[in-house]
Amino acid sequence: MLPARETDVDRFSRPHSATVGAMARASGQLSDALNEYVTAHSAHPDEVLRDLAAETARLFPEDADMQIGPGQGTFMTMLARLIGARSAIEVGTFTGYSSICIARGLAAGGRLRCFDVSAEFTAVARRYWQRAGLADQIELRLGPAADNLADLDPGTRFDYAFIDADKTGYPRYWDLIVPLVRPGGLILVDNTLSHGRVVDDAEQGESVRAIREFNARALADHRTEVVLLPIGDGLTMARRL
Ligand SMILES: C[S@@+](CC[C@H](N)C(=O)[O-])C[C@H]1O[C@@H](n2cnc3c(N)ncnc32)[C@H](O)[C@@H]1O
Repeated sequence: MLPARETDVDRFSRPHSATVGAMARASGQLSDALNEYVTAHSAHPDEVLRDLAAETARLFPEDADMQIGPGQGTFMTMLARLIGARSAIEVGTFTGYSSICIARGLAAGGRLRCFDVSAEFTAVARRYWQRAGLADQIELRLGPAADNLADLDPGTRFDYAFIDADKTGYPRYWDLIVPLVRPGGLILVDNTLSHGRVVDDAEQGESVRAIREFNARALADHRTEVVLLPIGDGLTMARRL
């Protein structure tokens, strides 16, 4: 069930859903029957990801809906493979679901840098990176993502970026990340429909205002071409020009 109004948790949450289909339904895209069909005809997550989702729900019942759904995870892995990504960055790691999906899509020897403020959430991620055999490929930096992004060597280049942290930070994260992504690289940004609130003028919470600002900024940015996909809570995909 989606909250009708913006809450504090909403600032970095997403609707919990099992697949791209379920997420599309969460945005009002699909009927239940179509959602079941989409679910049945999409690749299913493996045991590691299933266990991670279950453990996250058990440990953090109030926050578990921040995790991306399996269908989106499969999509993100596929995108990384399609562009031959070797280097990636993630802002907002939580217990690690999306990071595993990204890292699995990287070419041999590829590396993922993850940024998050929570040692508690990311302790779970670290365990699952080990279990998935990805611990050597993933580096975690704890602390406010804007500070850690600003500290990166300006010569650093990434093939692939995923933004899924506090929504009020999105415009800043965009400004910091775009110059770091190589031409032809991809930037994915989650929750860009803000649970449908982007089109409701009565919704003026700081998160939805930040998402509206972000969506306008990304579209107007001549360094990228952008498509806002109606997957789940909105997944913006930007190709660096
Ligand atoms: C929506 S969750 C990320 C979900 C994750 N991508 C997944 O699929 O499991 C948002 C995360 O952003 C982190 N976060 C919130 N504010 C942050 C900040 N200023 N800098 C870095 N991380 C932050 C939270 O600790 C939380 O783990």
